[in-house]
Amino acid sequence: MREVTQLTIEELKGKRVLVAADLDVPLETGGGTDELSVADDYRLRGVAETTRFLLGQRAIVILAGHLGRPKGQVVQELRMMPVVTRLRELLGQVDIFRAKSVVGVEVSKKAAELKPGQVLILENVRFDPREENNDADFARELAKLADYYVNELFSTSHREHASIVSVPRLLPSYAGIRFAQEVRVLDKIRVQPGRPLVFIVGGSKKGKVSFVKDIAVLADEILLGGTLSYAQELEGVPKVRFPVDAVRIDDIGPESVAMFCRIIHRAGTVVWAGPLGRFEDERYIKGSEKIAHCITESDCNSVVGGGDTLAMLGRLGLRERFGFCSTGGGAMLEYLANGTLPGIEALEGGL
Ligand code: 3PG
Repeated sequence: MREVTQLTIEELKGKRVLVAADLDVPLETGGGTDELSVADDYRLRGVAETTRFLLGQRAIVILAGHLGRPKGQVVQELRMMPVVTRLRELLGQVDIFRAKSVVGVEVSKKAAELKPGQVLILENVRFDPREENNDADFARELAKLADYYVNELFSTSHREHASIVSVPRLLPSYAGIRFAQEVRVLDKIRVQPGRPLVFIVGGSKKGKVSFVKDIAVLADEILLGGTLSYAQELEGVPKVRFPVDAVRIDDIGPESVAMFCRIIHRAGTVVWAGPLGRFEDERYIKGSEKIAHCITESDCNSVVGGGDTLAMLGRLGLRERFGFCSTGGGAMLEYLANGTLPGIEALEGGL
């Protein structure tokens, strides 16, 4: 896998670089207005690092990413404006323009007018149904905007979406700085984990069931919470432990916390993806908070991943106490299970 830092100023100067960017951050309203703002910018900091590198090489940067799951339609609350505002703050003196749509004549014109050192942020790529359908024409339209492609979207690289798996096959393609770091750290765990290797999998997204089945080969223990607390499909899967006192999926209770902590204290490595309850509600963050303390106070190597989990730990002020924070939840689990992701295969198959 080639990394963007291998590209020289001679190669990048004046060139357009389409960056598949991790812009999927939690939003909130506050300060007495209805205006949305970014509640946690951890993922944007990775995007800012790669963008800074590219701008330093006098390139033109076009950021393409999604927010939430608009399902192929324009959803006002999932427009990119709050992300643009936060990236402007993170990047300081940089000209950052916002496109009003994902592709089309206006966007192509805007992209063509950009000068070295400037940034264009496309509208939410998932507003266009062709993104999730991995449509070849849509991929070609995106690829036409640029000379190079960079993936700084590890957290979505397990999805076979156009901007993840098709655009990189049409352009010289590279991994972003943060992306490459994720792969390096996760490789160490995959190849030679400190054992026992304990996975904690929770969260609200359906679809993690298949990841749990996949990591069962690598794991010594798998502890479940969140929507997986009652996942019947996982009953009987070796190494899986369900909470003993979860109140539906709201939170795990004290008996589960005690059982999980006993296992964590014996662990060589703990990998955690997904809060163990509905943490957005103060009443149901306690189980996750206790588990977070238990992990950070033990001697294990700890890796935590996923948008919600990082946001929750950020809110608790505990994020920095973990050994490594991966931007990906599902992507992290899938990478650990398989040693690759569709987005990585596509980078390797690029021009
Ligand atoms: C994430 O938050 O894990 C990524 O943005 C992927 O989102 P998705 O599960 O909606 O594909």
